[in-house]
Amino acid sequence: MSTNEQMKNPILTVENVSKSFTKKYAKIPAVDGVNLSVAAGEVLGLVGESGSGKSTLARLITGMIKPDTGKIIMDGKNINDIKNKKSKAMLSNIQMVFQDAYSSFDGRMKIGDSIGEFLDNHYKMSREMKREKTIELLDKVGLSPEHANRIPGQLSGGQCQRAAIARAISTNPKILVCDEATSALDVSVQAQIMELLERLRQDLDIGFLFISHDLPLVNCFAHRMAVMYEGKILETGTPEKIINDPKFEYTQKLVSAGRY
Ligand SMILES: Nc1ncnc2c1ncn2[C@@H]1O[C@H](COP(=O)(O)OP(=O)(O)OP(=O)(O)O)[C@@H](O)[C@H]1O
Ligand SMILES: [Mg+2]
Repeated sequence: MSTNEQMKNPILTVENVSKSFTKKYAKIPAVDGVNLSVAAGEVLGLVGESGSGKSTLARLITGMIKPDTGKIIMDGKNINDIKNKKSKAMLSNIQMVFQDAYSSFDGRMKIGDSIGEFLDNHYKMSREMKREKTIELLDKVGLSPEHANRIPGQLSGGQCQRAAIARAISTNPKILVCDEATSALDVSVQAQIMELLERLRQDLDIGFLFISHDLPLVNCFAHRMAVMYEGKILETGTPEKIINDPKFEYTQKLVSAGRY
């Protein structure tokens, strides 16, 4: 990463955010006092063992759930302070790509109609504009207009994830949260999706929170890496620093496991 990029102001800041789930037998502090930030065009890789709180943090950042305490600040505004319509516009600045692309779509709807419905939720557009925008979005992710006519089950895993990425970038997000976005794909398809994400990062200056169990992959894509353990961020640094000189034995174990 260039010095220029390092000096950029954060677009997304997570300030002392905590979230517990209270269940019948115990209270689970899924996210516990997390601080982090992501700048435009920056990739923050988030790693940590299963159950360490990565997906909960992703859901907090995308506004799917609310924190018990702390703030999630996007473009200088707390995303949970803004009501209704404005909140919708604010959250459209942060989009998410999930591991299972198929289940992120309505299995009975044509991909083009799903993307159109998503556009309807955010913009006022004529049918023709929506059709053109959908084709343009599919083109950006390497799909053709013909793919818009298919239902998810008629796409390959890689094509379906491309469609999910097209839908995610339809609102011109400044932050894309990817939660194991390539984990379900074959290695060669995974590499193609990573190339696509890197191209979108460069073209659109999108910042990423990139969650993955695959450390070599995070090492390739991320500018900085955060290690999560029991809801907390244990350490943050360049992938080089985290991989070659981890502060904690826990990180050391993740590093030696590689893909864990
Ligand atoms: N809706 C929920 N209700 C109760 N507990 C939850 C809920 N969501 C998550 N948890 C708990 O919060 C903790 C963190 O879960 P989370 O899904 O964030 O972990 P993760 O790091 O994403 O794990 P993985 O790598 O397996 O995806 C876990 O103990 C989990 O069981
Ligand atoms: Mg998870």
